[in-house]
Amino acid sequence: MCGIVAYIGRKPAKHLLLEGLKRLEYRGYDSAGIAILGTTLKVVRTVGRVRALEDQIEKQGEIDGTLGMAHTRWATHGGVTEKNAHPHLDDGKLGHGIALVHNGIIENYAVLKRYLEDKGHVFKSETDTEVLAHLIGELYRGDLERAVQGALREVTGAYAIAVICAKEPDTLVVARKGSPLMVGVGKDEYIVASDSSAIVAHTTQAFTLADYTVAKLTRESFRTTTVDNVPVDAQVKELEFDLEQIDLGTFEHYMLKEIFEQPRSLRVCMQGRIDDRAGQVVLGGVSEFARRLATARRIVFVGQGTALHACMVGTYLMEEMAKIPSDWDFASEFRYRNPIVEEGTVVVAVSQSGETADTLSALMEAKQRGALALGIVNVVGSSIARETDAGVYLRVGPEIGVASTKAFVGQVMVAAMLSLFVGRRRFLSSEFTLAYLKQLKSVPDCIDRVLEQSDHIRSVTAKYIHRENWLFLGRGVNYPVALEGALKLKEISYIHAEGMPAAEMKHGPIALIDHGMPAVFVATRNSQYEKVLSNIQEVRSRGGHVIAVATEGDDHVRSLCEDVFYVPDLPEHLQPLVTVVPLQVLAYHAALMRGKDVDKPRNLAKSVTVE
Ligand code: AGP
Ligand code: GLU
Repeated sequence: MCGIVAYIGRKPAKHLLLEGLKRLEYRGYDSAGIAILGTTLKVVRTVGRVRALEDQIEKQGEIDGTLGMAHTRWATHGGVTEKNAHPHLDDGKLGHGIALVHNGIIENYAVLKRYLEDKGHVFKSETDTEVLAHLIGELYRGDLERAVQGALREVTGAYAIAVICAKEPDTLVVARKGSPLMVGVGKDEYIVASDSSAIVAHTTQAFTLADYTVAKLTRESFRTTTVDNVPVDAQVKELEFDLEQIDLGTFEHYMLKEIFEQPRSLRVCMQGRIDDRAGQVVLGGVSEFARRLATARRIVFVGQGTALHACMVGTYLMEEMAKIPSDWDFASEFRYRNPIVEEGTVVVAVSQSGETADTLSALMEAKQRGALALGIVNVVGSSIARETDAGVYLRVGPEIGVASTKAFVGQVMVAAMLSLFVGRRRFLSSEFTLAYLKQLKSVPDCIDRVLEQSDHIRSVTAKYIHRENWLFLGRGVNYPVALEGALKLKEISYIHAEGMPAAEMKHGPIALIDHGMPAVFVATRNSQYEKVLSNIQEVRSRGGHVIAVATEGDDHVRSLCEDVFYVPDLPEHLQPLVTVVPLQVLAYHAALMRGKDVDKPRNLAKSVTVE
């Protein structure tokens, strides 16, 4: 999703804004722009990367000024063009030199545009954002903060915005509803950004804007109000974040770094949460609701993308460990399905970023209907985290690569701990739990063993790199792993891949099998192992080439398949924590071999904060 960086202080803004924008590139975007107020208001915009923006700025000569903002756009309204890139200005003739950058969607932009055109406004872009800039200009009577408040009272939709005005060189106004925005508090300066990665280089003191909050920042102070100009408090807190966590180190890509970080991340995720004397899981974030969880009548996990796949694994885990009827759903489907939320329902929102619009809305819908709303989230203080009644943070560290890897295993790990936490308050004995926790604690070492096979995985990938269509198949708790493996391959190598339950293949997709078609099976030893072997035979008898993820020592699978990736043996419901790893590595190598941008795949955003 797009990125916003804004600055008011005493340092030259240009370099600081561009460096901040580079920290946000991982969020995904298609164009970029900057506006700086020095002796005059300078605006530069471009399609493409921040690098291209820097080249454009160079051509414009020096841009001075200590007040400005920069933006990376992920287009929703209007094509990817220079005219549609942000910042957008108010009307050239009727305006006041107001520049604005925006993340989100102004849903009622069309009716506002007609109103403004009737008043003589002339628009240059196709975007919804430009309408907001003109509306602020239309309402401006010498006070930018009031004009922004007035405009925001008229709009519906989601926004994170930064606004400056040529007539007010000492004022930066920012506001948010539904899209993330954070204000870093420095000495006589403020740096505003979509997330803390663009702030921590300058200050570790920051506050997150709540929905419907407007902040007016000057070089000396700030004030926060509602859009109705009612003062509200801002909680300045210490940022739990440091730069080396987001530096590449010796890795070529963030995705590879984060794949190899998984063992360490999971050790941190488990730290202080496993009491392997009493056979208990300690989850401070939900302990207040332990009773409501233990007596829940239904648990629904909601998320999107990779997080949804973790929801699916969580459903298996919760039913297995806590024996509570559980389910999963696309957050985007749940929120619009007029969901039945009966007494005793718990809804668990799973999200790495904590900003996915559909997941946030599904959580709020569930809360409004009386559900206990929990979160399994990575980013501390994110919108979803703040909306929950309680939750458990992943603690896997910032995930920069657009393709989610360590967050997935973190989400599954937390779901496993949560299901043991609940199960222990229902039927699980301390003996069973102790034994299970021992297995859980062995997972990081198991992943290390799988990662030692990276070269083997790369050589197998190379054999099939020319194939344009792949199948990924699994059963039971490894069915979500098949979906996740397919998603990884699709989103970074652009190869078409389809994940499905292995049994489902016979109901249509088997028609796709032709000679040499790669079919990846998760075929570890578990309750459905024999059935998966039959499915493997069905593919091979039609000329398909089978790549299996199998349990270490299983020579029988090797005799049936072209290629095998071995994983250590684990209890069935923990297997996704290791069976996903070779599929992550496979996708990574496939993308490299195809020359794709592994960390910033086309069309994708790290956090989809629009619907
Ligand atoms: C996963 O690799 C994708 N980047 C995407 O599907 C992602 O998982 C999804 O958008 C959910 O994001 P979240 O976990 O931040 O809510
Ligand atoms: N809706 C705005 C546009 O299409 C902002 C998109 C974004 O969040 O980057 O320009």
